[in-house]
Amino acid sequence: MDTYDVLVIGGGPGGYVAAIRAAQLGFSTACVDDFTRDGKPSLGGTCLNVGCIPSKALLDSSEKFEMISHDAAEHGINVQGASIDVAKMLGRKSSVVDKLTGGVAFLFKKNKIKSFSGLGKLVRREDDGWIVDAAGTEVKAKHVIVATGSSPRRLPLAPFGGNIVENSGALELSAVPKTLGVIGAGVIGVELGSVWRRLGAQVTVLEALPGFLMTADAAVSKEALKQFQKQGLDFHFSVNITKVEDSGKKVSVTYEEGGKSVSAEFDKLIVSIGRVPHTEGLGASDVGLELDERGFVKIDDHYRTNLPNLYAIGDVVGGAMLAHKAEDEGVAVAELIAGQAGHVNYDVIPWVIYTSPEIAWAGLTEQAAKDKGLNVKTGQFPFSANGRALGHGDPRGFVKVVADADTDRVLGVHMVGPNVSELIAEAVTLMEFGGSAEDLGRTVHAHPTLSEALKEAAMGVGKMAIHM
Ligand code: FAD
Ligand code: NAI
Repeated sequence: MDTYDVLVIGGGPGGYVAAIRAAQLGFSTACVDDFTRDGKPSLGGTCLNVGCIPSKALLDSSEKFEMISHDAAEHGINVQGASIDVAKMLGRKSSVVDKLTGGVAFLFKKNKIKSFSGLGKLVRREDDGWIVDAAGTEVKAKHVIVATGSSPRRLPLAPFGGNIVENSGALELSAVPKTLGVIGAGVIGVELGSVWRRLGAQVTVLEALPGFLMTADAAVSKEALKQFQKQGLDFHFSVNITKVEDSGKKVSVTYEEGGKSVSAEFDKLIVSIGRVPHTEGLGASDVGLELDERGFVKIDDHYRTNLPNLYAIGDVVGGAMLAHKAEDEGVAVAELIAGQAGHVNYDVIPWVIYTSPEIAWAGLTEQAAKDKGLNVKTGQFPFSANGRALGHGDPRGFVKVVADADTDRVLGVHMVGPNVSELIAEAVTLMEFGGSAEDLGRTVHAHPTLSEALKEAAMGVGKMAIHM
């Protein structure tokens, strides 16, 4: 039987990164992953295959289409008859995915990681190792890392299939639907709703909660909602879905809103109501692996499960279901196994929503800081007063810095506007080093750049903003 120091179950951002870091640290390492695309093994998990990467590729294509069709004229560029070739757009998206998933396979070879394609199942503990069925072959490993990710939460009223799709299906619509319904105004709802709206779909978003993006800072979610509604996304809050029927041609959705029963018909329906941990087929109950009441693998601060030398990371352990959180846990767990001080700072995990305008934040919202009893001061700077944003033709949104009024330490940074997916990194670095608003405000930023809006917001905390 082949024996490894470390075996990783799951080859998504958590698992493949853990495998690479383990190999770098000198462990003999293997990874078993069951994801396939077009019948072929495809490493990279949800993120690379049907999540982060393909959604961003489509967001980019659709944003360019919208820019050319509607916004170019403002720059004096007249384009007539712009049209979208959906098949070509999907083909480009697939080739981006191919490049990156192939890249993971290349990195596995480079790091001498044995790759098994198929299901990984915990079988039993023997001597001081784990016997794992790796795609039909029993192997032994001293340490096992479970990184089996998550899958879309199902709405029993609206089973996936036909015109009712989850994230994978929503990334593969072969034509632009005239009408698109989205259940869930979360991250997938607004990103993929935006893609198809830009290409011409009339999009209706049905959300159970009374508000929009309720974990974001209130000022950011208010501004983002205003911008998305202006673009034509039709949001309905506090709805209760009561019936969903797919006739094959159309999907009809009945929901209660404001005490009334309303029916709507859509060509396609995306159900994006969150994700659930994926432990199916893992053999968790056979070996006594403890899960919590929601099905997440239970771990301690060092990613240790209730069983010896069995660790878990990424979406399957809960917390922020984000690729970068999973990746950093992958690095940390490998280092902990090696006896090093692997660590993830959960207080400063950036969230980014790749709509237009983009939304990004890290750290505490103003309200969360106040709820913690902290004495808070804030600074806010609009992109409408930023030269680069005006030059771009996109002065929507603002940057808001939340700082501790007693120490000036930055507690959170919240942004909605152009390219804030990139701007947030500076705020994360500052917070990681415990920086103050004044540190940020007195750091020289190139002119003219969007990053000056962050500097000015930080200066605003001390009432020193120059350009407003
Ligand atoms: P996964 O990526 O889910 O990987 C788990 C892998 O394990 C999969 O390949 C799965 O098939 C495999 N597996 C499961 N069970 C077994 C088994 N028993 N044996 C073998 N293999 C198994 N996050 C971001 O940070 N940024 C984004 O822009 C972003 N966009 C997203 C867009 C969409 C549409 C979706 C759905 C998600 C998005 N996410 C994004 C979330 C991100 O994809 C996840 O947080 C991330 O993929 C989690 O990584 P993971 O390694 O824990 O799990
Ligand atoms: P989500 O948790 O972001 O949003 C789900 C929404 O559905 C919530 O607003 C919830 O209130 C609503 N909802 C739940 N049940 C409902 C019901 N029965 N009827 C109507 N609304 C209902 O989940 P989503 O959008 O499915 O995405 C899953 C996860 O994937 C995200 O939370 C995030 O972790 C990750 N992701 C990250 C992205 C990024 O980083 N840019 C992009 C896409 C996904």
